[in-house]
Amino acid sequence: MTHHAATAKAAERRALCSISGLGRHLPEKHLTNADLEKLVDTTDEWIVQRTGIRSRRVLPADWSTSDLAVAAARDALADARLLVADIDLLMVTTVTPDHLCPSTACVVHKKLGMVGTPAFDISVACSGFGYGVSLAAGMVHAGLHRNVLVVSAEAMTRFMDYRDRASCILFGDGAGAAVVARTGRYDLLHTSNGADGSLAEMIEIPAGGSREPASAASVEAGRHFLMVRGREVFKTAVRQMVDSTETALRELGLATDDIDWIVPHQANGRIIEAVAEALDVPLDRVVFDLVDKGNTSSASIPIAFTGLDRSRQLRAGQIVVLVGFGAGAAWSCQVLRVAG
Ligand code: UT7
Repeated sequence: MTHHAATAKAAERRALCSISGLGRHLPEKHLTNADLEKLVDTTDEWIVQRTGIRSRRVLPADWSTSDLAVAAARDALADARLLVADIDLLMVTTVTPDHLCPSTACVVHKKLGMVGTPAFDISVACSGFGYGVSLAAGMVHAGLHRNVLVVSAEAMTRFMDYRDRASCILFGDGAGAAVVARTGRYDLLHTSNGADGSLAEMIEIPAGGSREPASAASVEAGRHFLMVRGREVFKTAVRQMVDSTETALRELGLATDDIDWIVPHQANGRIIEAVAEALDVPLDRVVFDLVDKGNTSSASIPIAFTGLDRSRQLRAGQIVVLVGFGAGAAWSCQVLRVAG
């Protein structure tokens, strides 16, 4: 099928729902590679070459994940021209919750002044936003909810071991948000999610849960920090993000030529390059958003997508692919069409 014929076919496809507003919040403070050189045995050159990251954001000392979430939520609501009272379901995706109990969604609920609106957390790590959008799409499509607010917020720096050079160079703080509704600016044509629990130990925070409750020994051993088996994650991430994208396109009858923009999870610039190369998508159609943010886990895709949305480069009918992979392992892929 030609590019135009395939895109026309996608244009006819009925959307499951739409994204009617996008928002984000990024803390002002940066943690630079030069700052990290003072903490661990690393160099700016190594970090830039191996990851593409030059700095990451750090939330204010008196903020927590819910504050990032509230700021991104307000931004998305303004973008959708909605009020807090118009939202009839709130989901927060995070692996860095304010507390183990209650949900961060309920803290955000209080801070936004919501009354009675159902609210819950989703814990899927880097693929959280895609899972959240899928759930919201199901709810909206079924007619159970009208305006679902999906907020992905992470305070990753609160869980970094700044003695572990393999992980602390990667992650930063931030939040992104989307309103999912029946109509809007981005029509959702496809959404799919997957997981492989056999890879659960690839990225983990070992202690602090019921498996290994907090103790003086667990704190002493640094077992409340995020641990990453980087090389393993790298290979699996590339393979799975390529596979998810190809499967989604096949289902829609599209080819990689039909992709106008890819917004991948922002874990490592080399992962993103390898995904683009394997899919044979030119790098100028791929969003690289990690140079001054690092990996913000579930927030990375909505932060990058909001940046693309505000860059005014998108045109009606264009196809945008969101694709993520991370701890769990869990992955997620959405195909959207820019509404006319
Ligand atoms: O969202 C998903 C979450 N996780 C990730 O996305 C992580 C994905 N993985 C990665 O981004 C990469 O694997 C890393 C950036 C973590 C590591 O890059 P790599 O090219 O896979 O390096 P490596 O782990 O194979 O290590 C190469 C060398 C090792 O030294 P030896 O054994 O060759 O002597 C490491 O000890 O680089 C060393 N190294 C460092 N050197 C300077 C590891 N971290 C650093 C560092 N600075 N920060």
